[in-house]
Parts: sequence; C-alpha cells; structure tokens
Amino acid sequence: MITPVRTELTVTDNVPFGQPVPGPEGERRFYALTLERPAWKSWKPGQFIMIRPLSCQESIWARPMSICRVTSQSLVLFIRVVGPGTDRFSRLKSGDKVVVWGPLGTGFEMRSDTPTLLLARGVGIAPFAGYADMHPDPSSLTMLFGHTLPSSNYPTDAMAARMEVESLHDRTPEELDEFHRVMRLRMQEYKEREGICLACGPMPFLKKVWKTAIELDLPTQLLLEERMSCGIGACLGCSTMTSKHWPDAVRAGLPVQTCTSGPVFWARELDLEASIPARRA
Ligand code: FES
Repeated sequence: MITPVRTELTVTDNVPFGQPVPGPEGERRFYALTLERPAWKSWKPGQFIMIRPLSCQESIWARPMSICRVTSQSLVLFIRVVGPGTDRFSRLKSGDKVVVWGPLGTGFEMRSDTPTLLLARGVGIAPFAGYADMHPDPSSLTMLFGHTLPSSNYPTDAMAARMEVESLHDRTPEELDEFHRVMRLRMQEYKEREGICLACGPMPFLKKVWKTAIELDLPTQLLLEERMSCGIGACLGCSTMTSKHWPDAVRAGLPVQTCTSGPVFWARELDLEASIPARRA
C-alpha cells in the first residue's frame, strides 16, 4: 500500500513538445511539465496525482494527471492542452509552485519474466515512459503506438532507447483500420507467447482493446484515466461497469468509480459495453 502525501513542489521546467496543432480555439500542443521530485517512498506507473497551481486564481480545483516518469531529481507530467485547465498548466514557468497530492490509484502489473505488450494511443503514451524506466527487463517489452499527429509530438525517442517501439501514424480511416489490424495481430502474438498486455489511450481505443482481449482471453490491463475529473470519488463522473469477474462478488455487475477503484483495471473484470444506470435524483 502506497500512502499518498500532499506536498508543495516547485516547477523546474515546462517544455513544449513538437509542433503546435491547429484547432477551433487556436493552436494547441503538448508540454513536458517537470517538477522537483516529491518525497515519495515509492510509486507505480499507471498511478496519478492531483495537481493545482498554488497561485491559480482562475481555477480552484485540482486536476488528476497520470504520472509520466519519476527520476531521482524530478516528477514529469506529459500534458496535452485541450482547454482552459490544461492551458493554465502549459503556462507554468520555472520557479512557480504547485500543490500535488499523490501517488494515487492502482498501477500497472510489472513482471520481469513475462513478455509484455504495451498499447498506447496519443497522450496515452505518457505512463509507459515511467513503465519502461522502472521495468527490470525492458527487453521483454514492446510498444505499439498509434497517433494522429506526427511522432515528434510525443516522447517516443527516449522510450525507443529502452524498448522496441512500433509507431503507426494514422491520418485517414483506412490507416486507423490498419492500426487496429496490427493491434489485433500483436495481441494474438502475445497470447501465443503467454504474455500480458497493458493499454492506455482514449476510450474508443480502450474499448477495442477490451473487446479483443476478451475474445483472445489475453490478460490485459486498461488505464481509464480519460474518465476522471474530481479524482476523489465526489463527482461520480468516472463510473465504469464491472463484469461478473469482479473480485468482490457483491459489486460484480455494478458500477465502480475509476478514481477510487482504478484507474488501472484488468479487462476481464470490466464490461465496457454495459451502460451505466442513471443516478436517482
Ligand atoms: S473523478 Fe470524480 S468521482 Fe471519480
């Protein structure tokens, strides 16, 4: 059990990644936000933190963010700017202070003697940077990475130095179909090798991974970070439905909160096709 701590940290760097991406509200891009290292005893890739700029006037709420990597000196977050909240983080500068609460949630399985397939799409690549850093035998890792933007927007180079990375850039529906075809092929290979699979990315991608994992009976974990908002079990906006394989029989077939029960789950313990029952007023 890793005990989360609340701590005030200093920003040491905030570097834009790749080229700005045109969007309806102007240019958007990715940032590697580096903070001084918190005094954590341990952490697991897949876990997240709650973070809030200390001097933030515009937004008083902390946001959940996946941990990208933790080094001896720093805690790194990989941020995709998608709105005013994440834009506020992109404007942090060296010397600014943030409040961090963490590490929180469940982390990814890590087995030194098991072939492990990492499946990532887009900003879902972030937690696998730390995973590759911490894995005792990175030669047993392969990552398939799908992305719609050029790969220079993502930290693939540093990761390719630690493990085999297969990067597929899809710009058309046909190229996306090709990514899904290769993904299924790789999952079949890892089933035959008695391996495991770990996935992170947007929900339509995770649903495809989930479905394929169930069909192939491949042990697979999914990181459902996209659903989180408050990060503390208060907003109930991150519900996901459990399957009959949920370890607690009393909760099987009922919704659980991603932030307090996950965000990493075994695919067979979830039912991502089931709809969440509406809450009573
Ligand atoms: S993110 Fe609000 S309840 Fe989970």
